[in-house]
Amino acid sequence: MVKVGASILDADFSILGEEIRRLEKAGIDFISFDIMDGRFVPNLTFGPDLIKSLRDKTGLPFEAHLMVESPEKYIGRLVDAGVDIINIHAESRGKIEDVIKSIKAGDKKAGIAINPGTPPESIGKFVDAIDMVLVMAVEPGFSGQKFIDMSGKIKYLRGLEKGFDICVDGGINETTAKQAAGAGATMVVSSSYIFSHKDYSEAVRKLKTAR
Ligand code: DX5
Repeated sequence: MVKVGASILDADFSILGEEIRRLEKAGIDFISFDIMDGRFVPNLTFGPDLIKSLRDKTGLPFEAHLMVESPEKYIGRLVDAGVDIINIHAESRGKIEDVIKSIKAGDKKAGIAINPGTPPESIGKFVDAIDMVLVMAVEPGFSGQKFIDMSGKIKYLRGLEKGFDICVDGGINETTAKQAAGAGATMVVSSSYIFSHKDYSEAVRKLKTAR
């Protein structure tokens, strides 16, 4: 079974603490925070302070997905906010190896996110230093977009047999989760599919058992 994370992008922001409690009760495995700076992607969301305010609401792992130009600026505050894994984009301006080192220095897990058009070979020199590859199945910036088949990329990454998690993010529903898991993904992140269900546990169950 794949591990399922919920991106809070489609949650009701006016009751985020309650939403996180509902997600936990529904059996979600981790919470994904899509941090956007309005420059790396044409959207603006939230920062470390929001994550900090939610940290004591649940014991679930927090994943921060940094869709920002300069990820190095935020690592310290994300570590203090209590995130468990930080994914930075291979396409961002930061020096990837230095940012990975600073995440590890904060005793957190480090991952690299790659956009649909970025070849997986481009992160080859980091594969021994990371805990996750976040394979984007949509162009980053917004929820509710159409899934782009990333099977070839997932199979390539799985074939490296480096032991890192392969998480697919974007356009995930019960059909695309099946495709991602079938190609070798170990985790998926969903927003609109989960939050479009009245009963989150039904959505989580369908995603977890997708194979
Ligand atoms: C896109 C985000 C994704 C997105 C997922 O930039 O990284 O997590 O919110 O939303 P859905 O599941 O609706 O595609």
